[in-house]
Amino acid sequence: GAAVEVDISALKPGEKVTVEWRGKPVWIIKRTPEQLAELPKLDSQLADPKSLRKPSELTPEYARNEGRSIKPDVLVVVGICTHLGCSPVDKFTRGPQPSLPDNWEGGFLCPCHGSTFDLAGRVFANKPAPDNLEVPPHMYLSDTRLLIG
Ligand code: FES
Repeated sequence: GAAVEVDISALKPGEKVTVEWRGKPVWIIKRTPEQLAELPKLDSQLADPKSLRKPSELTPEYARNEGRSIKPDVLVVVGICTHLGCSPVDKFTRGPQPSLPDNWEGGFLCPCHGSTFDLAGRVFANKPAPDNLEVPPHMYLSDTRLLIG
């Protein structure tokens, strides 16, 4: 399929845009410093914090880091649950909520069977989804132009 070029110059911290790539929704999220600071604290609650599972399918080498990203603040991830393929919804609200960890800075909740993902697309342990969300192949053409695919 064709690669998709995206201008992210207008994306502000805490915002997300969705683009379509090969018929799949791809989320581009600019994380805030607070959101980034929380990622390492979640490791013990995650099923695969270092993204070691299925690396060739789910996490390209350049995204095998804490934020699963090339630029530390910008997450690029396929918005399809790794359980049975539903589309998770944003849960950016801070604070305790049913089925969400305390004090989290946001992430995603799959409405189908309750899997939760952090803001690096990493799945929480003991949820139906077995794996982290897929980071699609991507690169930067310039500081603000992203090529997906
Ligand atoms: Fe997402 Fe089942 S499809 S938890």
